[in-house]
Amino acid sequence: MEMIKIPKREAAWRCPSNIALVKYWGKKGPQIPANASLSFTLADLYTETKLLLTDQANVIEVFLDGVHRPDFEPKIYDFCRRIADLLPWLGSHGLKIETHNNFPHSSGIASSASGLGALALCLAELDACIKETPMDFMLASNLARLGSGSACRSISGAAAMWGEHPDYPGSSDYYAISVDHLLHEQFQGWMDAVMLVETGSKSVSSTQGHALLQEHPYAQSRFQEANRNMSRLKQILLEGNIWAFAELVESEALQLHAMMMCSTPSYMLMQPGTLSIIRKVREFREQSGIPVVFTLDAGANVHVLFPGQHRSYLGETLFPNLEKACEGGKYICSSIGAGVKTLT
Ligand code: DP6
Repeated sequence: MEMIKIPKREAAWRCPSNIALVKYWGKKGPQIPANASLSFTLADLYTETKLLLTDQANVIEVFLDGVHRPDFEPKIYDFCRRIADLLPWLGSHGLKIETHNNFPHSSGIASSASGLGALALCLAELDACIKETPMDFMLASNLARLGSGSACRSISGAAAMWGEHPDYPGSSDYYAISVDHLLHEQFQGWMDAVMLVETGSKSVSSTQGHALLQEHPYAQSRFQEANRNMSRLKQILLEGNIWAFAELVESEALQLHAMMMCSTPSYMLMQPGTLSIIRKVREFREQSGIPVVFTLDAGANVHVLFPGQHRSYLGETLFPNLEKACEGGKYICSSIGAGVKTLT
C-alpha cells in the first residue's frame, strides 16, 4: 500500500440532528434512497465529536462522554468499510472517537444522524488536509449518508433535501443539498418541541424497517407518493402556505407508520401517548388558529413544529397538556437552523 503523508491527525466537529418532513423510508443498494426526502435541521440538538487518527491500522475505539463504548464500534467498522474507496488513507490507520450528545442518550431522540454527521465532518476535514484542498461539505454529506442515510441532510443548511428529484436542480442520491432558499418568510424562525413519549431504544431499528420495504406490497406506490409530496412541498415552502404544510407533513408522518403497520412482519412504534398528542395538536390548531404541526420519526416520540413567536404562549397552553403523555412529563425544544460547526 502506498504510504500517504498525514499532515493532521485530529479534527472536532459539531453536527445537529434533523427531522424529515417528507420521509426517507426504503433504500436500494449501498444507501441509495428509494425516494427523495426533505428535512428541517434541529440546531439545538447536536453531537460533538473529536476524532483522533492513530497508527493502529483498523483499530476503532469509541468513547461516549468519556466512557468506552465497545457496543458502538461494530457500526463504525461497517461505516469504515463502506467509505474505504472514498478515503484510501483510512485503511492504514485506526480511529479514536470521543463523542458527546447535548440531548440525553436515552431520550429516544436518534443520535445516528448527528453522530454520523459529526464523524463524517471530521473525516472530511482530515481528507481536505491530506489533499491540501478546502473542506468539501459535499464529501462530508456523502460520507454521512454511507453511515446513516438521514445523516447526510444534517450537514447542509436549515432545510435540506436528499435524493435525485426533477424539481430540485442539483439534487443527488449521494449527498444532500440545502434548500434554505426555498423557505418563504412564513417558515423563518420555526421551532420543534420533541415530546418524549418513549425513551430508550426502539423495538425495530430504522435499518430493519428499511429492509422490510423490499417485500412490501405498497412500496412502489409509497415511493411515488413521496416523490409527488416532494414536488408539492417545494411549492408550499415557496408560497408560505402553512395550512397545506400541516396537511402534507402530518400525512407523511402517518404514511411512514402505516407502512410499518402493514409490512411483513407488521409492527407498531406508536404508543397510546403518541395518538393522544396527535389528537391534541390537531384540536389545538383548529381551535386556536395557530399552526402547530406534528410529525414522527421511526419511533413513538412526537415532533411538534410551530412558528417560534408562539413559543411562550404554547408553553402555557398546549405543551403542559401534551406533557401528560410524555415519559416523566419531558419534552425538548429546538430551533430550526443550520448547526454544523468546527470545534478546533
Ligand atoms: C424515519 O437514516 O436512520 O427517520 O440509512 O438505515 O441509517 P439508515 O436509516 P435512517 O432512516 C431514517 C428514517 C426516518 C425518516 C427520515 O429521516 O427521512
